[in-house]
Amino acid sequence: MCGIVGFTGTQQAASLLLEGLKKLEYRGYDSAGIAVLGDGGIRVEKISGKVEKLCEKTMDGAAVPGSTGIGHTRWATHGAPTDLNAHPHLSNDGRWAVVHNGIIENYASLREELTARGCAFHSETDTEVIVHLLEYYDAGDVKTTVMKTVARLEGSYALGVLCADKPGTLFAVRESSPLILGVGVGENYFASDVTALVSYTKNAIYLDDGEFAELTPEGITVYDCSGKQIEKPISRITWDVEAAEKGGYAHFMLKEIMEQPAAVRAAIAPRLRDGEVVLEEFDLTPEELREFNKIVITACGSAYYAGCAARYALESLTRIPVEAVLASELRYADPIIDEHTLLIVISQSGETADTIAAMKECRSRGARALAIVNVVGSTIAKTADWTLYTWAGPEIAVATTKGYTTQLAVLFLLAMSMGRKLGRLDDDRYALLLYDLLRLPKLIQNAIDLNHAVPALAKKYHDSPSLFFIGRNTDWAVALEGALKMKEISYIHAESYAAGELKHGTIALIEEGTPVVAVCCNEALEDKTISNIVEVKARGARVLAVAFRGDRKIVSQANDVIFIPKINTLFSPILAVIPMQLLAYYVAKENGCDIDKPKNLAKSVTVE
Ligand code: G6P
Repeated sequence: MCGIVGFTGTQQAASLLLEGLKKLEYRGYDSAGIAVLGDGGIRVEKISGKVEKLCEKTMDGAAVPGSTGIGHTRWATHGAPTDLNAHPHLSNDGRWAVVHNGIIENYASLREELTARGCAFHSETDTEVIVHLLEYYDAGDVKTTVMKTVARLEGSYALGVLCADKPGTLFAVRESSPLILGVGVGENYFASDVTALVSYTKNAIYLDDGEFAELTPEGITVYDCSGKQIEKPISRITWDVEAAEKGGYAHFMLKEIMEQPAAVRAAIAPRLRDGEVVLEEFDLTPEELREFNKIVITACGSAYYAGCAARYALESLTRIPVEAVLASELRYADPIIDEHTLLIVISQSGETADTIAAMKECRSRGARALAIVNVVGSTIAKTADWTLYTWAGPEIAVATTKGYTTQLAVLFLLAMSMGRKLGRLDDDRYALLLYDLLRLPKLIQNAIDLNHAVPALAKKYHDSPSLFFIGRNTDWAVALEGALKMKEISYIHAESYAAGELKHGTIALIEEGTPVVAVCCNEALEDKTISNIVEVKARGARVLAVAFRGDRKIVSQANDVIFIPKINTLFSPILAVIPMQLLAYYVAKENGCDIDKPKNLAKSVTVE
C-alpha cells in the first residue's frame, strides 16, 4: 500500500523524509522517492526498489538539500514498478510536485483532456494527471490552485503537494484515504499513517474526507472542501511503532479483514462507469467472446476457492460452461483445452509455482489466459494474455482475506461484463446485480458490524478437536474457504462438505458437541441445508449457522446464528466469508496461535 510523508521546518527535510519512508516499509511497496524544495527549485529523486537504495543514491538525503519536502513509497497499481512510475511526480514546468495514495478513478478522461491541450505525460500512473492539473490551474495562489485541481478528481486520494513558489509550505489533501498531520515545534509533518510520525511527535490532527491543510514550520491551517478555515482538535498518539503498523489492531489479519470494504471499493469503483461495467484490460468484442466454448478457472489455496465461489456467477451470467481445477492437478491432467478455452488464472501474489505451470500448460494447448492478480508486474500478470488487477493493496498476514474478497469482486465484474456483451444478461437482471455491486463495500462493512458476537462464539468453539463446515452450491464454496481459514491459523482440524454429501460418510464423525458451521445464504437451497442441520443435530452436533439478516427459519434450527446483509445469491460468498474469517481469527486468538505467521505456511508458494 502506498505511503506518503511530508516535512516542513528548519532541519534538512530529505533525511527526515527517508526515515519516515523506512517506517512505512511494512505496508509493502516496490518503489520510493522524495521531492525537496531547495535553492535551485524542486529536486526529485526516485527509484524502483527499496528505500535503502534511495538512501544510497542521495547519500542519506545529504545530496538533496532543502527544508521542505514530500516522500512516497509506491505499491504499483497503474503501471509497473519502474523509476518513471515512482512518485513524486513533477509538473512539466518543474514548479509542482505531488505524492498520492489511492486511485484516481477518472484519470483516463483527465489524461485525454490534458494530452489534447498539449501536456506531455512521462509515466503510466493515474497520479500524474494531478500534477499537470496543478500546472494548468495555477492561478498564482497555491490554495486556489489546489482546490481547483481537487475539484476535478474522482476516487480516493491522500495527496501531498509541494510548490516551488512557496518555500516552507506544504499542502495535504484527504479524500477516502488516510492522512494524518503531525504537529511539532517549529516544524510540521504529514503521513499516511502514524508510524511515520511517532518518532517526531505524539500530537496529531486527523483530517476528514474532503478536508485539506496548509502546513508551514510555524503552524497548520485546516480547510473544509469550500476553502473555509476550520478548527480541528489535536489528538495524542498513544500507539508505539508496532501498534501503529497494525493500525492499532492486534494482528495484520484483523487489520486486513477490516480493510475489505475499502479494498473491494478500489477493485470495483474504477470499473463502473455510467452504469456499465468497463474492463479496459479485457475489452473483447461479443464476437471474440463467442469464440470461447468453455471457461476453466485455475488457482491454488484460497484463490482456488474464490474461483469455486465465482464459477456460479460466471456460468449463470455467461451461460458458458465453467470448471474450477486446482492448478497442481490441472498441470498434470492432460486437460482437454484448446483455443476455444478461456483460462482464468487467479493469484494474489502472481508468483505461485503450480499456478504458473498450469497456465503455461494450458497456453501451450492454445488456451488464452486472463489473470486476476493483486501484485502488479508479477510473473502471472506479465505472462497472461490479459490481466485484471484486484488492487487490494499489499497483504501481510499469510492467511488471505482482502486478497480473496477482491478476487471475488473482480470475478463478479467479469461475469457481468461478459454476460452483458454476450447478450445473455437481460436489462432487469443486470440492473439488480449492478445495484448489489455498487453497494458491496457498504454491505461488507455491514457484515463486519453484524459479527460482533463472533469473539464470544469463538470462546464456545475454540477447544473443539474438529469442526465441520457445510453448505450447498455457493454456500459450499464459502464453507471450503471457511474450513481452510480455520485450519491455516488455528491448527484445528476442519473439514468442508457439500451438505448433501454428509450422509455418504462424514456424518459418521458427528458426535455429541461436534461443531458444524452451516452456511445458509443460498435461499433457494436453504430448506435442503436445514434438513442436513436437522440430521447433524439429531446426532448431537452444535450448529452455528450463517444466514441472511431477517431469516427467522434458521433461528429455530441452529444453536447460534451469525447474520449477514441480504444480497443476490450469486454474490453472497463475498459477504458470507466475513464471519468465516472472523471466526477463524478469534478461535486462533483464543488458542494463542501466531496468527499472522502460521506454522509451516508461506504467503507466496514459489516451489511446486
Ligand atoms: C498460499 C497462501 C494462500 C494462498 C495460496 C495461493 O498457500 O498462504 O493464502 O491462497 O498460497 O496463493 P496466490 O498468491 O497464488 O493467491
